[in-house]
Amino acid sequence: PATLRVAVLGCGVVGTEVVRRLLTNASELHARTGTRLELVGIGVRSTATPRDPVVPTELLTEDLRGLATSADIVIELMGGIEPARGLVTGALAAGASVITANKALLAQHGPELYEAADAARVDLFYEAAVAGAVPVVRGVRESLAGDKITRVLGIVNGTTNYILDEMTSGGLDFEKALAQAQELGYAEADPTADVEGLDAAAKAAILASLAFHSRTSLDDVPVQGITSISPEDIASAAQTGHVIKLLAIAEQGTYDGVGGLAVRVHPALVPVEHPLASVRGPFNAVFVEAEAAGTLMFYGAGAGGEATASAVLGDVVAAARHRVNGGKAPSESAHAALPPMPAQAV
Ligand code: HSE
Repeated sequence: PATLRVAVLGCGVVGTEVVRRLLTNASELHARTGTRLELVGIGVRSTATPRDPVVPTELLTEDLRGLATSADIVIELMGGIEPARGLVTGALAAGASVITANKALLAQHGPELYEAADAARVDLFYEAAVAGAVPVVRGVRESLAGDKITRVLGIVNGTTNYILDEMTSGGLDFEKALAQAQELGYAEADPTADVEGLDAAAKAAILASLAFHSRTSLDDVPVQGITSISPEDIASAAQTGHVIKLLAIAEQGTYDGVGGLAVRVHPALVPVEHPLASVRGPFNAVFVEAEAAGTLMFYGAGAGGEATASAVLGDVVAAARHRVNGGKAPSESAHAALPPMPAQAV
């Protein structure tokens, strides 16, 4: 096709940056995909909300459903479960390729959405859902598809890493550091999901599903956040050569003689010489151990509008190329049933 119709659902921090890049990089995107990407609408809850001047107001619409079912590529950046779930399902059924940054949606309803994408033979891409700009989803799903991953350790929430870092090296208290993370646009609209570890748990579920070809959902991930970490905890960790990091961990183990997958999120003592200890501020890192590849670390900006938009646009280019040249992403409904293990096994 000479043109692909692109719809953006949601126009917050990430949505605004995606719109900016779609418009300002239009000729580069055309050159890389072989087709013109035409932004046909931006779905929002209220068209009356003031927007960044880059957002063309004539493209704003509250008819989310109509927009989601009338585009070739639908970019879902609303967050939350509903109405995002219904809109993504409707878009897939209408034959659109879907790009989403919605980790909560994938962690709770991933399998049914992957199946809907397979049934419609369209792409469902979500690089931006885990670790922002860091290409860990494609790395684990595709680059390491021929290897056997044994363990994944990740710092996958920028807000909590920023807070712990500011408490460690900046001497800030928890509240002040959180307020700064919010001002910088790292935190979720409701930062409870960040500080209680739920955002990291959603990402842990997605990574575990990809790395271990499992169907891991948020319910399979025991979580402990960082709200009770005190300056004293941080100081005593330092005395023994450690820093405190909120880690998402997925590994294979054995429980009562049965092999399974253990996934969890909690604050952990990381030795200062471990590569994860040097991950600062809002940055994310995912440390992967694989049989043949050995240890790898995927590292970079894990939050923020521009960085997350980079991952979204990369997925848009990949989906557009598939629509131009044929083909779709590797099927994900073929996930083997590797059962999650009881939490007390670890
Ligand atoms: N609130 C998230 C974070 C944004 O702090 O990492 C990226 O998912």
